[in-house]
Parts: sequence; C-alpha cells; structure tokens
Amino acid sequence: MKNAIQKDIACVILAAGEGKRMKSRLPKVLHRLAGKSLLGHVIDAARNAGLQKILLVVSSDHAQIKENAGDRFTFVVQKDRLGTGHALQQAQKALKGFKGDLVVLCGDAPLIRTQTIRSLVQQHREGGFVCTVLTARVEDPKDYGRIVRGGAGNVMRIVEEKMANAQEKAIREVNSGAYCLSVPEAFDALDKIERKGPAGEYPLTDIVDILVEQGKPVGGLITQDDEEILGINSRQALALAEKILQRRIAHFHMDNGVSIVAPENTYIGADVQIGQDTLVEPFTVMEGKVRIGQNCVVGPFAHLRDGTVLEDGAEIGNFVEVKKSSVGSFSKAKHLSYLGDATIGCKVNIGAGTIIANYDGKKKHPTRIGDEASIGSNTTLVAPVSVGKRAVTGAGSVVLRGRNVLPGSVVAGVPAHVLKRRGK
Ligand code: UD1
Ligand code: CA
Repeated sequence: MKNAIQKDIACVILAAGEGKRMKSRLPKVLHRLAGKSLLGHVIDAARNAGLQKILLVVSSDHAQIKENAGDRFTFVVQKDRLGTGHALQQAQKALKGFKGDLVVLCGDAPLIRTQTIRSLVQQHREGGFVCTVLTARVEDPKDYGRIVRGGAGNVMRIVEEKMANAQEKAIREVNSGAYCLSVPEAFDALDKIERKGPAGEYPLTDIVDILVEQGKPVGGLITQDDEEILGINSRQALALAEKILQRRIAHFHMDNGVSIVAPENTYIGADVQIGQDTLVEPFTVMEGKVRIGQNCVVGPFAHLRDGTVLEDGAEIGNFVEVKKSSVGSFSKAKHLSYLGDATIGCKVNIGAGTIIANYDGKKKHPTRIGDEASIGSNTTLVAPVSVGKRAVTGAGSVVLRGRNVLPGSVVAGVPAHVLKRRGK
C-alpha cells in the first residue's frame, strides 16, 4: 500500500480561506496546535501517507504562509476568494498533464490522520469511484455540509446548512472537506461548477451532483473517529482541537511506556520525544523540539522549552525552566531554577534557586557545567562561563562571566572567589 500510494498521486491542500470567524490578522491556517501550525499538521499527515507531490492553494495576501511552509511545495495563488471549487480550479493549471488520483485536503482541518488518508485512497481505488468523499457521523452537523446518499449507498449530493431543507438538516453524516478525485475525469466536472449564493462562490461540493448527473460513481468513506474531521473556524474550535490533540499525544507516549500522572493537566508539544519509563508529573509543559531519555522524572510544574535534551535518568522538578540546554544522565535540577543555553554533564546537582544568567541584554551566551559538579542553592552563573568537573559553588555564589570555575575547585561569595583549588 505504501508504495502503491505514491504512484500517480498528488495532493492539493486548500488554504486560501479568509478565516473571518477567527477574528485574527494571522492567516487561519497558521494558528498553532501543539506548537505546529494547522497547515503543518495537514502537510505532515499527507507526507506520512506517502504523498510527495503537494500543492498549496494560498491567497495573495498571505505571504506569511509561503514563508512558513518553505520552498518544498508548489504554491498556487487564489487571487479572489471565490470558494473551495474556485480554489481547486486554480490548482488545475499547475497539474496540467497529471493523470491519477488527487487527494484534496482542507488546511483548516488539522486532525486528519495519516491512516485515514491512506484508507480514503484505497476505498477510492477499490470502489472504482471518480470522487470519494471523506465523511463522518457527528452529533452536531451544523458547521458542515450534509451527505445525501442514494438508494445504493453512493453519495448523491452535498448540501450546505444554508441550502438544506428540514429533512436534509437532520442528516448526521457530514462532509469532512477531504476528497479523493480521479484526474482528468473529475477536472471535467470541476470546470462545470457554477457560482452560487449571495457570495457568488464556486462550491467544490457541487462536483458531486455534476458527476452523479454524468453517471459517474461517487463514493463516501465514513471515518470511525469523528473528531478527526474537525474544521477550525473559530478560536473555540481551535481550543477543542488542542484538547483532542493533547489527548492523542498523551496516549501515544503512554502506549510507548511513559507514565503521565495527570494527562489532562500536562501539555506536550507535537515534536516532543520521551523515552520509556520516564515519569511526567502533573502541570508540566514541554514544547518545541524536546528530547527526553529513559527513566527521567519531569515535574511537577516543570517547563521544558525548545532545544531541551534530558539524558537517561535526569530529573527536572518543581518550577524549573529549561531552554536550549542539555542535561546529562542522572543530573538533577529539582527546584526553582532557570537553565538556558547550557550544556550540563552527568551526575550534576543543580541546587534550588540556581539561575543561569544567559542574556546580557543584547546577546545570549553559553554555559558549561562538567560532570559531577555541585551547584549550591541560589547560585547565579553569569554566561559565558564554565564550571569544571566536580567543582562546587557555595550557596548564594555569583560566578561572574568568564570567571570559569576550574575542575575540582570550590568557589563561594559575591562575586565568587576560590575557597579551595584543585588538588589542594
Ligand atoms: C467546507 C465544505 C463543507 C465541509 C467543510 C468541512 C464547501 C462549499 N463546503 O465548508 O461541506 O463540511 O468544509 O470543514 O466546500 N478555501 C480556499 N479558498 C476559498 C475558500 C476556502 O482555499 O475561496 C479553503 C479554506 O482555507 C479552508 C477550506 O478551503 O481550508 C474550507 O473552506 P471553508 O471556508 O472553511 O469551508 P467551510 O464553510 O468550512
Ligand atoms: Ca472550514
């Protein structure tokens, strides 16, 4: 399946919508979930499903999307926002000569799973459909187009809320906005979509009636997990999606042998890796690229930010913030610390209240702490600075920038001075 899906297959992600209901200057698809943009989630799902040729339909006033996504995609600009059908029509030119299956995804539906995209393509191919719609049965269908099925079970039509009659409004099966289309047959129908409604838009959903009229078969795949079709149209929907995603992320780590004491009170970004038998205590936040080894303890109330690496057996505890730092095996910082831009060796003890002053008001500077060093409570390390192997700083020391503490020596005071030199 994985290889099969790559052949003659392309993907278009519709991301030119205005996102009015978000009430934001930021393009809707750049709002973030678990530290990654909505669009980034959709792109990753498509990539992981083996879709390599990806076209992004963006609006001309959304240069930020291009900057954000990088140059790995074909960008298609939709100048006037004239609806989802119009958006796909813009991609048609860029797909000139393409023959095969085209997966269409919405940039504002970030919870779609890789496996669902695969199943959609499989159903499309096995059923011999010209268009296969991904659908779901939901409790509250209000924000979605309703799926009207015919006698044989095929999809006959998609009706939006505003156009639906009472009987159609009662339908619980809705359009996810994701489709698999056979090209060029479906493009012929795409050309025939007409402008509609007060906004004069070309609804992509009308491709279904047109194909059905042409006698072409349209299928529908119902997802088992209705949450994955959630379209983000408002900040409330964004918060709901975050909640769903956090549950999924926590389950993923727990299934891999990580203990999360209170998943509902823990925030784990999409790019966090956690090793087996690590314990995550409540009220911990881990965001950005973070890598945690095995048998670590994190929290309660720990904040691990982008670029944190904890080697096996490290412990980061109450009210400790770590940024762009690596903490070696069995090292501990258990209380009230800030560790930024630091490289910390193995079996180091960082006493309560230790602060790494990494920023001089203009630039960030690095700090190194050698293996088995002991940093006394309430030490301030003014970067750039290094503390050697097995060195000790006394409680309340302020180690000034560049006044490196030699291996094995003991310093104390403000500013810190040497109490005991190495070997003495
Ligand atoms: C659409 C579907 C609806 C479906 C729902 C699923 C249509 C007419 N309706 O409605 O049946 O249940 O998605 O979430 O398709 N976009 C563009 N250019 C445009 C307009 C939209 O690229 O001119 C993009 C948006 O960025 C978005 C996607 O298309 O990613 C869907 O657009 P949106 O306006 O959110 O459609 P819905 O009203 O949610
Ligand atoms: Ca939407």
